[in-house]
Amino acid sequence: MDRNLALELVRVTEAAALSCAQWMGKGDANSADAAAVQAMRRAFDSIRFDGTVVIGEGERDEAPMLFIGEKVGAGGNPEVDIALDPLECTNSVAYGRNNALAVVALAPKGCFLHAPDTYMEKIAVGAKAADAIDLNKSVEQNVRDVADALGMHVEKLTVVILERDRHKDLIAKVRSTGARIHLILDGDVSAAIATALPDTGIDLLLGTGGAPEGVLAAAALQCVGGAMQGRLRFRNDEEIQRARKMGVTDIDKILTLDDLARGNQIMFCATGVTSGDMLKGVRFFSGGAWTHSLVMRAKTGTIRYIETQHFFDRKPIY
Ligand code: FBP
Repeated sequence: MDRNLALELVRVTEAAALSCAQWMGKGDANSADAAAVQAMRRAFDSIRFDGTVVIGEGERDEAPMLFIGEKVGAGGNPEVDIALDPLECTNSVAYGRNNALAVVALAPKGCFLHAPDTYMEKIAVGAKAADAIDLNKSVEQNVRDVADALGMHVEKLTVVILERDRHKDLIAKVRSTGARIHLILDGDVSAAIATALPDTGIDLLLGTGGAPEGVLAAAALQCVGGAMQGRLRFRNDEEIQRARKMGVTDIDKILTLDDLARGNQIMFCATGVTSGDMLKGVRFFSGGAWTHSLVMRAKTGTIRYIETQHFFDRKPIY
């Protein structure tokens, strides 16, 4: 794949971000999500490629658009698999909080884990600490080993964790090491990526979040050169059956970065909807808006930040 499709896909994430950002703070998560989905679906049609959604809005019977298996793009080469989330952190938009993104990743067929809609225990770091993480080790050992790998005193290390009741024990264990903790209400995709980008102040992600979000984060970490491990965490037997139907054979396996998103042909693109550790959110002005996006490609390792000024009288928002 020589064409940098991600540079074209940025229009897709920009369209989704611009559309749902209008719903910020209105308390209506469903309308925000629907706006992002519709705009993303429509924007895909203007790009020449043959995409199949493998991580999407859900299965065909539960999602009207961008469902798993849906074809997107205007057709032609290349033929790729798509992992997407038109609005990662729906509630952050509904309640005017941080970290919401529109995200798309693509790869040659078969390179993304077909992750079921369940939870995943995750650990993610940047390249320097890639060999220090192991979900088989204790939390405390992982924290200490990552600090060592980064050449930092553990007291200076910053661990990002989703603020959830299920993480009480995890938070206590991290505190016992002396490490600093950045608690977030939502958004472990941007939090995982932030561990691998310079100057974010985030060193390590720990905790359990969405499994599809784990694949999106892994795609980005393949581009930027970070590391991640994941282990599926099911809530019930039905989720286990669904996972098996989607091709997961070993449900307890510790999934490496390559299991989640494989190869150097991955491309990743995200646009901020509300501001976070990684990207600025959509900023409206009279007659238009600014967007801030991140475009990355595993083959070259290039990381582009794109600030775009949009004028709605010349190109109306979807
Ligand atoms: P949604 O936009 O799907 O709500 O995802 C937001 C998020 O915070 C993800 O970043 C995270 O992986 C997941 O929710 C955690 O799930 P839960 O809110 O059920 O703990």
